[in-house]
Amino acid sequence: MANQSRWDGASVILAKRDGLELPAEAIQWFIHNYTIGTVPEEQAAALCMAVYFNGLSEAELLAWTNAMIDSGDRTDLSAVHRPTIDKHSTGGVGDKVSLILVPLMIACGAAVPQLAGRGLGHTGGTTDKLAAHPGFNASLSPEALIAQLNSVGGVIGAAGDRIAPADAKLYQLRDITATVASIPLIASSIMSKKIAEGTQGLVLDVKVGAGAFMTDIDQATELAETMVRIGNDAGVRTSALLTAMDVPLGRMVGNTLEVDEAIDTLKGGGPADLLEVTLALAEEMNRLAGLTADPAAILASGDVFPIYEQMIAAQGADPRAPLPRCEHTHEVKAPTAGWLVGMNARTVGLASMRLGAGRAHREDSIDLGAGIECLRKPGEEVALDEPVFKLHASDPDLFSLANEMLLESLSFSKSQPTLPPLIIKRVGPTH
Ligand code: URA
Repeated sequence: MANQSRWDGASVILAKRDGLELPAEAIQWFIHNYTIGTVPEEQAAALCMAVYFNGLSEAELLAWTNAMIDSGDRTDLSAVHRPTIDKHSTGGVGDKVSLILVPLMIACGAAVPQLAGRGLGHTGGTTDKLAAHPGFNASLSPEALIAQLNSVGGVIGAAGDRIAPADAKLYQLRDITATVASIPLIASSIMSKKIAEGTQGLVLDVKVGAGAFMTDIDQATELAETMVRIGNDAGVRTSALLTAMDVPLGRMVGNTLEVDEAIDTLKGGGPADLLEVTLALAEEMNRLAGLTADPAAILASGDVFPIYEQMIAAQGADPRAPLPRCEHTHEVKAPTAGWLVGMNARTVGLASMRLGAGRAHREDSIDLGAGIECLRKPGEEVALDEPVFKLHASDPDLFSLANEMLLESLSFSKSQPTLPPLIIKRVGPTH
């Protein structure tokens, strides 16, 4: 393919840089050759930046998404006995919803073939969180995936080098070249993985706000509409919920800490905001999959936790093994008395990365125990010097910068604030 095309890396970049519409053949050529390593990283970075500024037409976006799907295999899930339904988030801070939602949807009667990603930028990744369970294996063959869907009912794995491998490379490249927050690049990244994964239905959690890649509702709506269109055109029943990501979801940020909070929720507890988003997504997934179970009652019963244990055990983890923890903690104290109104989720995500919970470079390892407990959240009243955050790190020298950043993330008022709604709107056909 590489030698038969009239395209080369520079000519594709030049055309996109100058605002021309790329033919499907040029896009296929570029994505294929980038995947096999013939097109170098710097040319892919330049093309992503050109797309970031000039966007993709509808035809280009379709060609780009199809080229990403064709870079790997499509999983045939026809041997799975239950209706298949998945969810994907565009990325947030403290977003451990998948850890709860996958076993919850199994309990509701669905099969959930979730292929999730690593952390991106200031946002956490589901496979990184599950790595807190010693022995957890996110790489499954198609045969193992289907077997687990029929035995346990769900799986959380990594797309890896089989499903949309072009995305795995581009995802990491975009992370370090400031080209994540682009509607066509996010839409093609997510939808290529989900279409190739073979699910029948998909609910997208499109995050909007300070801690999301889309910071305003119009952009987030455009992203949601774009993904919903790509999914339904490809035969995947797709809808989206726009949900607020101005402040971290729940109280825990960081891998082990988020697993702790997810387990608490699976046992019937959990913070109200995390429950609200999880249940709204579960209801939408039930609707698309034609299921009638009551997710709120099932989750409150605590019966979902054993399903989570079965799922991670099927993927090599010992559910009873202790999770990695950091030796040092530090409290960030309120600089004033008053009502907490704001806690900038992006700043909290970046502070958590600085403590070791995320990657600054693609080859960095993660300190799974590191992170932030939000002891107080917006809508609560705090006294002067009361601890607002508890930080966890292996190196106490990391606390001072995170302390400074977290103080900057906060805003206060003298009166009790009215908090904005968490579930902003639904986007999608009324199937
Ligand atoms: N999640 C993805 O899978 N891809 C993106 O580009 C952003 C969030």
